[in-house]
Amino acid sequence: MKKILFVDDEPQLLEGLRRLLSPQRKDWDMRFAASGEAALAVMENTEIDVVVTDMRMPGMDGADLLTRVHHRYPNVMRIVLSGHFDVEAGLRAVPVAHQFLMKPCDPFKLKAAIECSSQLHNFLPDENTRRVISAIGSRPSPPAICSTLIQAINDPDSSLGMIGEIVDRDVALSAKVLQLANSAFFSLPHTVTDVRPALAVIGIDVLKQLVLSAAILRQFHPRRPIQSFSVDEFELHARTSAQIASYLPADVNAVSLRVMTALLHDVGKLVLASYLSEKFERACGISGVEKCPLHLAEREVLGTSHAEVGAHLLNLWGLPRAAVDAIAAHHRPAPATAGSEHGLDLMAVVHISSALAHDCFAHTDLAAPLGQVDDDYLRRLGVTPQMGSWRKAARDAAGVSP
Ligand SMILES: [Fe+2]
Ligand SMILES: [Fe+2]
Repeated sequence: MKKILFVDDEPQLLEGLRRLLSPQRKDWDMRFAASGEAALAVMENTEIDVVVTDMRMPGMDGADLLTRVHHRYPNVMRIVLSGHFDVEAGLRAVPVAHQFLMKPCDPFKLKAAIECSSQLHNFLPDENTRRVISAIGSRPSPPAICSTLIQAINDPDSSLGMIGEIVDRDVALSAKVLQLANSAFFSLPHTVTDVRPALAVIGIDVLKQLVLSAAILRQFHPRRPIQSFSVDEFELHARTSAQIASYLPADVNAVSLRVMTALLHDVGKLVLASYLSEKFERACGISGVEKCPLHLAEREVLGTSHAEVGAHLLNLWGLPRAAVDAIAAHHRPAPATAGSEHGLDLMAVVHISSALAHDCFAHTDLAAPLGQVDDDYLRRLGVTPQMGSWRKAARDAAGVSP
């Protein structure tokens, strides 16, 4: 039974939650605390799975509480349920909260948020992965992008579109921007999957503080180079995949969703490189020596791969389910039913774009077999005949000679 701790300084609100969620009593063991201090006291005696806290409370506020929970109990899922938008406190909570919800929160949304956190708990294959996912809240962005962004933000002539373009180039930052925009803090009518409307919602001022806090956080997370892994190559692969995803014939999925999913599909590699660098480095070594795909080497070393880690992280951040599923399965897509005349679905787009992007820089000729692709899957989709021309188009677009 999942143990959920709700924290709010307003007794009526706690009472309201207790009543609203009473049908959940058979699945959840619910605890209630009237302050941050009381919450920590509960946690000393009881192993809690999910904390749902108010932001503005006298004494220890929600951001403070979650920061302490993050340090003391890194595996606990942390959700903010706030009544007002406070930029300063919001930014303090961003690195330590997995999800933001806005009061009054409809019970379905709250239930879904908690279920999603608890399911991840059950599903995550090993303790290490869970630790990685919990720690990821503080993942910073590379400073080069930060300074370019800050310059653009300070330039009165730079448009939102220009800033969007810069944010687009940075995988971690665009994920962060989307996480923010999709959180109920900004009460969006629907999920945003493109950085530009997300920026329009967040506004330049919040973005500026977000970028600055990311740059500052980075100072406290020095990263070492990982042998056989280059962040530049990682980013080139992400951008190339996104570019290919934008022109593959796809079904109803909006271009922005395809591009975003392709851009982020390997984000788990960055997570592993940052938080489990030794094991990740070992996996990169095995992959290089044994010439096996990196995800298989990761599984050997970590019991999981960058696909699952990235997908779980983005799921916690509230990215659309279709994107999460496509990322989780990008090496081994779910068995496809026959190809649809409307084009490829998101899972197929991501699998094929990543394989074609790898191929662009694989230094093989076009006649060589295409690595990193599931031939059976392509056959079932009925797209094997098209692969040759897509492969050539991908190389042309990436500017590499066939
Ligand atoms: Fe991958
Ligand atoms: Fe990839």
